[in-house]
Amino acid sequence: MALVSAKVMLDKAYQNGYAVGQFNINNLEWTKAVLQTAQELNSPVILGVSEGAAKYMTGFKVVADMVKAMVETLGITVPVALHLDHGTYEGSLKAIEAGFSSIMFDGSHYPIDENIKLTKELVAKTKKLGISLEAEVGAIGGEEDGVIGGGEVADPLECKMINDLGVDFLAAGIGNIHGKYPANWAGLNFEVLSAVNEISGDTPLVLHGGTGIPTEMIQKAIGMGVSKINVNTECQLVFAAAVRKYIEEGKDLVGKGFDPRKLLAPGCQAIKDSVKEKMEIFGSINKG
Ligand code: 13P
Repeated sequence: MALVSAKVMLDKAYQNGYAVGQFNINNLEWTKAVLQTAQELNSPVILGVSEGAAKYMTGFKVVADMVKAMVETLGITVPVALHLDHGTYEGSLKAIEAGFSSIMFDGSHYPIDENIKLTKELVAKTKKLGISLEAEVGAIGGEEDGVIGGGEVADPLECKMINDLGVDFLAAGIGNIHGKYPANWAGLNFEVLSAVNEISGDTPLVLHGGTGIPTEMIQKAIGMGVSKINVNTECQLVFAAAVRKYIEEGKDLVGKGFDPRKLLAPGCQAIKDSVKEKMEIFGSINKG
């Protein structure tokens, strides 16, 4: 199946009260683990790629071509969107050109007028091409790819301004942060989430920083319009822990245990288990 825009899958999720996971990918193993899990569980899936990860994989075109080819060779039939995560304006144009089927333009660090201007231009471009567009208001806190946000909470009126430009889904800061949550984290701000959902009509909302948010909060947020949840750090943590265990147990020293296909296998299995657990919590299983 060809890559799809994330709009249809997220509108369906919004109408039916579940969320689709965006799982960030870093390499071939990550991509394979996420795609296989989505197929096994008959779940739609969004593969997220930050500009840093795309650079690591040597460019947007390599990523797009790899994902398209893998969807074909693995016989994936569930809907798959390839999505630029926290794109700059220039990065968005490059990812579109390379064949991504969905874009997040993150203009949250600009003054609102500039965010509106650039988002508006990208709405026009993506609509013409049938590519979905996510916009952001109020930076998501924490650090991702060297960009540090302050745990911000979005202004619902600014969310309305961005939403009314015709974006397909909207990320609003509601106290969520990337990476691990500190022990004294205040939790998600449901008052703001409710106001943003109210003011943005039927636009699906996006929750970034999906690693470590308690299940009850995730499910409450889904009940309030969140239809896309981004998960990155968690897969990295479980992958690293599983590979560390394999090496600490000395398995790389037994026979051909040093073969990267063997060495990385426990990490890949850990990603699969983690993605499965998330899909269960998000309610996207059998929605493919
Ligand atoms: P985590 O790394 O906290 O899971 O957040 C991922 C994310 O929001 C990507 O945009």
